[in-house]
Amino acid sequence: MDSLKITGGQTLNGTIPISGAKNSALKLMAASLLTREPLTLTNMPNLADTRFLSQLLASLGVEVYWPKGDNECRLNAAELTSTIAPYDQVRKMRASFNVLGPMLAREGHATVSLPGGCAIGARPVDLHLNALEALGADLKVEAGYVKAAAIHGLKGAKVVFPFVSVGATEHAMLAATLAKGETVLENAAREPEIADLADCLNKMGAKVSGAGTATVMIEGVDLLSGTQHSVMPDRIETGTYAMAAAAAGGDVTLEGAPVKALGAMIDAMLRCGVTVETDADAGTIRVQRNGSALQAINVDTQPHPGFPTDLQAQFMALMSIADGTSVIRENIFENRFMHAPELSRLGADIQVRGKEAIVQGVKQLRGAPVMATDLRASVSLVIAGLAAEGETQVNRIYHLDRGFERLEEKLSGCGALIERVDGE
Ligand code: EPZ
Repeated sequence: MDSLKITGGQTLNGTIPISGAKNSALKLMAASLLTREPLTLTNMPNLADTRFLSQLLASLGVEVYWPKGDNECRLNAAELTSTIAPYDQVRKMRASFNVLGPMLAREGHATVSLPGGCAIGARPVDLHLNALEALGADLKVEAGYVKAAAIHGLKGAKVVFPFVSVGATEHAMLAATLAKGETVLENAAREPEIADLADCLNKMGAKVSGAGTATVMIEGVDLLSGTQHSVMPDRIETGTYAMAAAAAGGDVTLEGAPVKALGAMIDAMLRCGVTVETDADAGTIRVQRNGSALQAINVDTQPHPGFPTDLQAQFMALMSIADGTSVIRENIFENRFMHAPELSRLGADIQVRGKEAIVQGVKQLRGAPVMATDLRASVSLVIAGLAAEGETQVNRIYHLDRGFERLEEKLSGCGALIERVDGE
């Protein structure tokens, strides 16, 4: 298995281009199932997860044209040859579950495996299923599969989510575009990726309004058409490199960044004493720290516009070298602190108590072999390794390949000493 070798202690200086957002791309790709015409996605991130979903779509009959390394992907779902997404595919990547709603809306039936739990928590899909049922789907769960039918089509309905779910909001939105009548989603997630999905759906002829607010309205239409859409830039990738620059020190400009989507992250960095300059029109965020100390602060993860859970691990790496004690509270997932013991292997002083991690900043981290069990946890170890003295080996980097495009190239372009080592 490949690993990353990082020789820490180098400051980062230069520019980093931001890629398209994984978590937007995956839902946009699912939208291709709603139309018989081609959907062309530009600014597509080349990642293990997006490639994986393209294979699943191909297995359903979608013609996929996406040359290796290219950032443009054409998906043509003129004919679907299957409406079954098997366990092996959904288990490996949960976002695959989102093909259920679009296939059901278009074909009147679909069978998709339940995803099962994952490393960061139980992650049930009850809110997805309740929303589809409210839209008139007849659902049966048998042998680990959801068998869904809506022989006479889906019907618009009011769906009130008991708590905020990004995936369930997106799933209901996708399905409701082809339902008869109006759907209102209340207590909807407000993540920027939801507004990106709505933009694309509207270009396809859907009638979605309010995306990005807590109430999303969808007026169903009979047919959707093809379009071209540019995937929004990745706010989590942006935040990750901002924290890498703050941890290692230096002067890094993030280009093509979704500045307005990162308010809570930018605010946290400023409170830590990091210099952050933003230009929303130019899409740039400049992060500087030249020798000044980092101040420990507390953060709580929250649904957008709060501090994102997908930046919690990276922020913990930063706080592990701050002055003072930071309390980091994870409110979204129940098991998202697996990076804490790995950061401790690098010398961090972290105690986990239930939903809270208490991070007592140390003067210096020291390199060590580490590994992690999910994407964001893995990249937090990269950040810690960049700031640490000596060599850090990050194992199991297939997690990183799921969500960070050209990570070593982007970091080494700013002076980091980081290389991929082929495993046996
Ligand atoms: C999305 O996951 C992202 N994934 C996650 O990013 C992200 O951490 C998360 O939103 C929160 O921002 C994609 O977009 C592909 P949720 P999602 O439904 O949609 C519970 C990454 O690293 N819940 O908002 O699955 C759930 O267990 C990933 O890129 C139910 O109980 O998240 C969690 O505790 C990881 N029942 C909470 O809600 C449901 O039916 C929020 O989850 C659905 C969710």
